[in-house]
Amino acid sequence: MSVDPRYFSEAVHAGTKPEPVTGAIMTPIFMTSTYVQDEPGVHKGYDYSRAGNPTRDAYETALAALEGAKYGLAFASGLAAEQAIIQLLEPGARVVVSDDVYGGTGRLFRRLYAKYKIDFQFVDMAQDDELRRALTPETRLIWVETPSNPTMKVIDIRKMSRLAKAAGALLVVDNTFASPIFQSPLALGADIVIHSTTKYVGGHSDMIGGAVMTSSGELHEQLKFVQFAAGAVPAPFECFLLHRSIKTLAVRMAQHEQNALQVAEFLASHKSVRRVYFPGLKSDPYYALAREQMRGSSGMVSFDHAGSYQDVVGFLKRLKVFSLAESLGGVESLVNHPERMTHASVPEELRRKLGIGPTLIRLSVGIEAAADLTQDLQQAFAGG
Ligand SMILES: Cc1ncc(COP(=O)(O)O)c(C=O)c1O
Repeated sequence: MSVDPRYFSEAVHAGTKPEPVTGAIMTPIFMTSTYVQDEPGVHKGYDYSRAGNPTRDAYETALAALEGAKYGLAFASGLAAEQAIIQLLEPGARVVVSDDVYGGTGRLFRRLYAKYKIDFQFVDMAQDDELRRALTPETRLIWVETPSNPTMKVIDIRKMSRLAKAAGALLVVDNTFASPIFQSPLALGADIVIHSTTKYVGGHSDMIGGAVMTSSGELHEQLKFVQFAAGAVPAPFECFLLHRSIKTLAVRMAQHEQNALQVAEFLASHKSVRRVYFPGLKSDPYYALAREQMRGSSGMVSFDHAGSYQDVVGFLKRLKVFSLAESLGGVESLVNHPERMTHASVPEELRRKLGIGPTLIRLSVGIEAAADLTQDLQQAFAGG
């Protein structure tokens, strides 16, 4: 799989217009909280920057165009974006969530929103019986993250969309791992797409952000009201950075994917590796489904080290090009230990069920030269 060439142009031009007053090719950073009015209620379309800001508008339009959505809304973080969707619900509503969502998503649902009487059911979406049992008349949302974090399970979006429609629920897809370049959930039947734009969309590990996109005018109005009324908006500077970043998103994703494939193939052939999780490998159980619904397999690769936890720690310490850090999707390669880092907040029993154990390692493969990455892994394995 590879980047569809039309995305190279889309990423540069999507939704981008010169700024009308000066013709500036990039929308300037409008660092302003308020806007002068001609008379009460008569203004140029902006009255207060929580409600609207030209830099944010330009970025939201560009990102929505790339995602194939009619509408886009930017938030201060991925979790703020998720929260905006949950704030559409009434007490008593049920949300059926894939059991291997990002740990922070689970924490938001279990620890913050469950107390407002929203019933979150975490299910293995691959188990039809479990999923069908969870879908009750109270179900308002089916929430999936695909590919999932950290074991790269791929969930069939078309099938989820059919199930959601039959249950009278909306389908929400977290598209963070694939990015808009490699997967278009709305075209596959999803109602709402969310991103942690901190990751591939931002791409440079220098800011935190989130986005919610939909093609439903009604949902957009409701979500926009939450954005305005609850106020978790990003600053104009962040919007400018994100708008700038998406122009290179297609180029970056092409390189992330090529590198990830080489890293995954290297790992699959290494004696110190028990199992590789990467849907771009032909041997991966999700390869066929990934080819059906994705245009590429992104830069995320996980694997089980064949040794002990102590061997894993030694391996992580010896890495020189990969940095041990949370997060993903930046130009530089990162390595993460999900059990102790990103997924530490997942209940232990669930972690065990999901295969997140002491020897699982997740790589966010960057855009460096692939040989530098495989050599780094090689020396870190060899040093033990
Ligand atoms: C798949 C996914 N969704 C959502 C989030 C939350 O986003 P943020 O950290 O920008 O709030 C993350 C963060 O790691 C993530 O990996």
